[in-house]
Amino acid sequence: MKKLIVANWKMNPDRFSKAELLVNAVQKKAALEKNVKIVLCLPYPWLTDISHKKYKGLNFGAQNVFWENNGAYTGEVSPTMLKNSGVEYVIIGHSERRRLGETDEIINKKIKATLKAGLKPILCVGEHLETRKKGLAAAKNFVKDQLNKDLKNLPTTNYSLLVTRLIVAYEPIWAISTNKNARPDKPEDSLEMIQFIKSILASKPYTLNPRVLYGGSVTSQNAKSFLQYKEIDGALVGGASLKAEEFNKITVIANNANKA
Ligand code: PGA
Repeated sequence: MKKLIVANWKMNPDRFSKAELLVNAVQKKAALEKNVKIVLCLPYPWLTDISHKKYKGLNFGAQNVFWENNGAYTGEVSPTMLKNSGVEYVIIGHSERRRLGETDEIINKKIKATLKAGLKPILCVGEHLETRKKGLAAAKNFVKDQLNKDLKNLPTTNYSLLVTRLIVAYEPIWAISTNKNARPDKPEDSLEMIQFIKSILASKPYTLNPRVLYGGSVTSQNAKSFLQYKEIDGALVGGASLKAEEFNKITVIANNANKA
């Protein structure tokens, strides 16, 4: 399976022209890399203009979505709108949204709605520093609880094919945007957590073989230490995805890890 590298641009950049420049710079390299799948998750105002065009080698995603498809929901964007705009992926439950009040119950509704609309949700889970300080076992319990709540009661009939679209990103909150090369954990810890997440997902009746990504200050310096493991199916990249050269280095590492 190709590694999946997802760029989370967050609330950047501030102009369409800058977004277009960045997409073009990533695309030049993407067209050359055959063993990696690249998804760019852009802010809404730039997303649909860009996703309507065809950029060879690139796929597009949103960073959020609502759970209803139409109605009186001022300011919201529906799964169907995204699907009809050529958007294929959507990040759901990012810790930066959870921090603003998004609950597991809301995330659960969003997962169901996006799967039904034929989108590929990238569900983010991950523990806080206080939990991690208690050890890896405590972190695993926290993540297990999130997964169980976020994926609660997905219909099992006529649904299994849709559920294969699910992607999970393990993003320990304490590792996001720290930009530290010297991290308090070892890459093997993330591997162990990702294996654990896969074992939970495998035990559910509706899940086949979801990709599980790692996220949290991934750079060209540390990408190989995660992507070298075949169990880590890719990366969710924030800050480093805003610099084309840096992001392209990460996609090359993913491309080569897959061939190795
Ligand atoms: P980061 O962000 O790579 O800047 O840590 C990752 C994320 O928040 O998805």
